[in-house]
Amino acid sequence: MCSNCGNEFGRWAGQCPACKEWNSLKEVKALGGQTHRSAHTSKTATEKKDSVKLQDLKMEGQVPTTEGRHGSAHVNSNLFSSNISEFDRVLGKGIVRGGVYLLAGEPGIGKSTLATQVLGKTKGLYVAAEESAEQIAMRVERLSLLKENFEVLETNSSGSVLEFLDRTQNVYEIVIIDSIQMFWSEQIQGAPGAVAQIRQVTMELIEIAKRKRMAMVILGHVTKEGDIAGPKLLEHMVDTVLYFEGEKSGDLRVLRVSKNRFGPTDEVGVFKMEEGGLREIKSEEINLVSGQESKIGSAVTVIMEGTRPMVVEVQALVTESFAAMPTRVFSGIDFNRGRLLVAVAQKVLGMPLYKYDVYVSVTGGIRIDDTGCDMAVVGAMWSSFKNAPLFERGNSNNQETRNKQITMTNDQNQKQRGIVLVGEVSLLGEVKRVRGWEKREKEARAVGREVVKIQYIKELKNLV
Ligand code: TYD
Ligand code: MG
Repeated sequence: MCSNCGNEFGRWAGQCPACKEWNSLKEVKALGGQTHRSAHTSKTATEKKDSVKLQDLKMEGQVPTTEGRHGSAHVNSNLFSSNISEFDRVLGKGIVRGGVYLLAGEPGIGKSTLATQVLGKTKGLYVAAEESAEQIAMRVERLSLLKENFEVLETNSSGSVLEFLDRTQNVYEIVIIDSIQMFWSEQIQGAPGAVAQIRQVTMELIEIAKRKRMAMVILGHVTKEGDIAGPKLLEHMVDTVLYFEGEKSGDLRVLRVSKNRFGPTDEVGVFKMEEGGLREIKSEEINLVSGQESKIGSAVTVIMEGTRPMVVEVQALVTESFAAMPTRVFSGIDFNRGRLLVAVAQKVLGMPLYKYDVYVSVTGGIRIDDTGCDMAVVGAMWSSFKNAPLFERGNSNNQETRNKQITMTNDQNQKQRGIVLVGEVSLLGEVKRVRGWEKREKEARAVGREVVKIQYIKELKNLV
């Protein structure tokens, strides 16, 4: 079985014939042809089924379906709120009954914390395979939530979960599964966490979630490289895939949605991990820029996280290299994008970066996935290279700026004028407009800065 796409093959191959991933085929033992059939599906496999006329379906709520190809079971689902507005916003309008959500993230990032907080405000069951009920009770206390709202089932067997949910009289709005890597199913062989087990357990859980119309939030660990037996395989099976990210050393956490059968995929929720749990934060509150004045090697930009703008600072350190191969370190931006920008800057701005080490980092430990920050990366490198801060000195052919400059006689006043660089840099060094331009300009003004109009990166020379 391929640990990336989940397809099965009769023999081993170095490259998966289906998804073309290398070294992803793992041997799994099949049990008499029942490999991936749960007790429930095999029982109902020969059951007579009738087709349903859509117009006869009772719709209890409006569900914005954007991707209806695979879904049929949740057509008549309705929505309810998690009472955490950032969480609701990321999902669309709320949680869908019978919807299965995968919440993936690195260990220790705060998945269990987020799940506990979501559950604390709704009626739900916490299925704990990693922690004991006492440990969860301690977390509930720490988060100042009401213990009365919590029911915990301690097990790591999917069979026990199904048996409990079938037997219980209680109606749960949400069931949390923490975490999928710890669960195993009696239906097939293999240790918890193995690819075949993860697939089997997930199939069984999805089946009961749809049948009982309970929303299910499945937590899954991913490593930096993207785990082998991990959520990649699960992504096809669940309705919605959420990624919880952030630098563990920092306190900022970003919730992204990468697949959503019920709503948009471009919304982002921002939280802060504090002593008492995760706190939702508004964009005005995110201050990732230290100080107002310009500093050497620093450039401020406005990125779009989903539909909302966020002011962040990009820092660069460009120093002479004594190694045969100069060092390139990019944290918070894509490595290949960073290398491309170094190449463009070398060619267009004439910086001899081939003999310089380049370090670029984004403050706050966030990961930028927005080409609108290109200009800031180039600007920060230029500022570090020239050993001078970036600020608008006024253009000789711009009367208004010149007048302003005359009035701002002392140096200190000039340094107060923080600037913002926004734009995508092309291979030719042109600066292109990016989406959400007006919103970015507005956000820059809100923090007392102004977006500098630059058409070609050579114009950076006017700024230092
Ligand atoms: P956790 O939710 O257990 O992570 P995961 O389930 O993704 O592995 O959270 C891990 C970290 O969060 C842990 O190092 C402690 C920290 N934390 C807080 O800072 N404040 C809190 O209120 C809680 C519950 C945890
Ligand atoms: Mg956990």
